[in-house]
Amino acid sequence: MGVKNAMTADFLRSAYGGESMAHMRYLIWGEAAEKDGFPNIGRLFKGIAYAEWIHAKNHFTVLKDQAGDYTVAAGAVFGHTNIVQNLQGALNGELHEIDQMYPVYFETAKYQQEKDAQRSFHYALEAEKIHAELFTQALELAKEEQDIGSETIYICPICGFTELGDHVDQCPICGAKKEVFKGF
Ligand code: FE2
Ligand code: FE2
Ligand code: FE2
Repeated sequence: MGVKNAMTADFLRSAYGGESMAHMRYLIWGEAAEKDGFPNIGRLFKGIAYAEWIHAKNHFTVLKDQAGDYTVAAGAVFGHTNIVQNLQGALNGELHEIDQMYPVYFETAKYQQEKDAQRSFHYALEAEKIHAELFTQALELAKEEQDIGSETIYICPICGFTELGDHVDQCPICGAKKEVFKGF
């Protein structure tokens, strides 16, 4: 477990920074959604905040032998106005990760034969695709002043796989059994 090449290590640090900020931003937006009368969208934000924490932890763990202080540059979405804008901001962030960031980071890790980084980037990329779908659904409902459904939101604590309701026996991304999923 670890990383040898500087470029992949840089990308792991940047991804760690981006995931850390997404984690915090979703907690802030989740609290705001609850206050605005959208308790289920609030839970969605808090559940996905946990998934982003898993991604940050995975990247951090791959970097465990790279001791030292670093200045980390990472993309972050700002703005805190209303639920529709917050969901749009969340969706934009996820789409950036899906379309730009993680595919490039993954291919770099593959080129540099960094197996652990590849796994960490792959887990995040696949989970972000689901987050983008869930935020899109929530955004459409919020535009009509409606909340999402009350199903439990389950998160895989290994890879951040996210599902609304109990539909799978094992994680489709990493293979973990559903018994280890955390519910929100
Ligand atoms: Fe993530
Ligand atoms: Fe995400
Ligand atoms: Fe998983």
